[in-house]
Amino acid sequence: MPQDVIERIHLIVGDISDPPAELRVDCIVNAANESLLGGGGVDGAIHRAAGPRLLEHNRTLGGCPTGLAKITPAFDLESAGIRHLIHTVGPVWSGKRDTGVPGAPGDDSASLGNTHEDVLLASCYTQCLSLCVKHAVRCVAFPAISTGVYRFPKQRAAKIAFGHIHGHLARHDTPHRVVICVYSEEDARVYQDVIDTRAAWMLGRRRA
Ligand code: APR
Repeated sequence: MPQDVIERIHLIVGDISDPPAELRVDCIVNAANESLLGGGGVDGAIHRAAGPRLLEHNRTLGGCPTGLAKITPAFDLESAGIRHLIHTVGPVWSGKRDTGVPGAPGDDSASLGNTHEDVLLASCYTQCLSLCVKHAVRCVAFPAISTGVYRFPKQRAAKIAFGHIHGHLARHDTPHRVVICVYSEEDARVYQDVIDTRAAWMLGRRRA
């Protein structure tokens, strides 16, 4: 993996609504629901930090389908240097294979990329990154979309997230930096394993 791409991805543990100032995040991705009218988890934290004008604004948007994303001002978060919020709606995990045959609850054995949820989660990342390009975002912070209330298996989600973030950064200068903001050390280990495995594979491929 070209070293410059991996250096543009920062993995941190913390509250995504309060990113470290030194990373100069100017856009935060929200793990929203289709109403865009707020909720718990990431959604709750971002609405609390952005203030009531965000909810007022989102009432005018007519919601957002799963797998898509909408960009809004950051309202009260602008004082922290955040210019935009991107609200994306991740899939709820059911584990159904692309044949529609349901796996057992929590069964994520279907190979990566061939469940309906995999495709929708990938779309969340690509839609958000396209909006970053369109709005000249410098540094975007992503949460681990769908891995909380929506129960998407964490390692599976991390592989999808990292694969699409890396793929985008390898082809685009914008955003310059992507912050993956997880909420626990355990989740950070899941992501770091995915990053290390991909880096080792790419290094092996270059040496072959
Ligand atoms: N900062 C960073 N990460 C967080 C935060 C936070 N403040 N709060 C929770 N997380 C983590 C969770 O631990 C999980 O790993 O973000 C990931 C996504 O969890 P959720 O916020 O529950 O999002 P999701 O699984 O996509 O479910 C979305 O939950 O809050 C509602 O309105 C939201 O209906 C929507 C659903």
